[in-house]
Amino acid sequence: MKHLIAPSVLAANFANLEKDFELVNNSEADWFHVDVMDGVFVPNISFGFPLVKAMKKLAQKPLDVHLMIVQPERYIEQFREAGADVITVHYEACPHLHRVIQQIKETGAKAGVALNPHTPVSALEAVIEEIDLVCLMSVNPGFGGQKFIYHTINKIKKLRELITVRNASTLIEIDGGVGLQNAEKILQAGANVLVAGSSVFKSENPKETISKLKKIGEQTWYA
Ligand code: DX5
Ligand code: ZN
Repeated sequence: MKHLIAPSVLAANFANLEKDFELVNNSEADWFHVDVMDGVFVPNISFGFPLVKAMKKLAQKPLDVHLMIVQPERYIEQFREAGADVITVHYEACPHLHRVIQQIKETGAKAGVALNPHTPVSALEAVIEEIDLVCLMSVNPGFGGQKFIYHTINKIKKLRELITVRNASTLIEIDGGVGLQNAEKILQAGANVLVAGSSVFKSENPKETISKLKKIGEQTWYA
């Protein structure tokens, strides 16, 4: 399977979302990555339902909604109604993770689970077959523009092994500090989905950066 690119809207221009959404719509990107932060689970607040609904209207590609909130089970249905196609909750925020995964699937959305940098991949051994996507945080969640934590590469390899051994079809998404400088290494380790915020929207030509990220791994012929 060719890897997917999910530009993180957190790094977009909120005073002109329409422009940045159009850019992504017309690019080789696959999803919009949408970061919801509550100021409790993470030390930052981003946005809630009204904005996700507005984004849904602008987006011509699926919304990959990453919930960095406590008690996400209280809001799953509402995020689905707002337009989420993938709903990812944090392992660290869910004492009853198995139940929340079922709850997400019942809405018809794809179910994702995110792991903070300190949480080992083995935490998902009992539920891996139930999950459509695992989001490995490669920075501490809460802010865009942080440095990629290198240990994530080992976690990707371990997770790929677990998924293969179980014959599961779970996607591996990497979130935080991803850009052209490390994407190849991340993909080689076994990732399927690259979230990229700053490296896309702060680049000179975001559309071209998306295209370059998408093409990584394809054979290049030098003249
Ligand atoms: C961090 C968010 C990320 C963030 C990534 O808490 O989950 O999705 O937007 O931003 P960059 O790509 O700038 O690290
Ligand atoms: Zn995210």
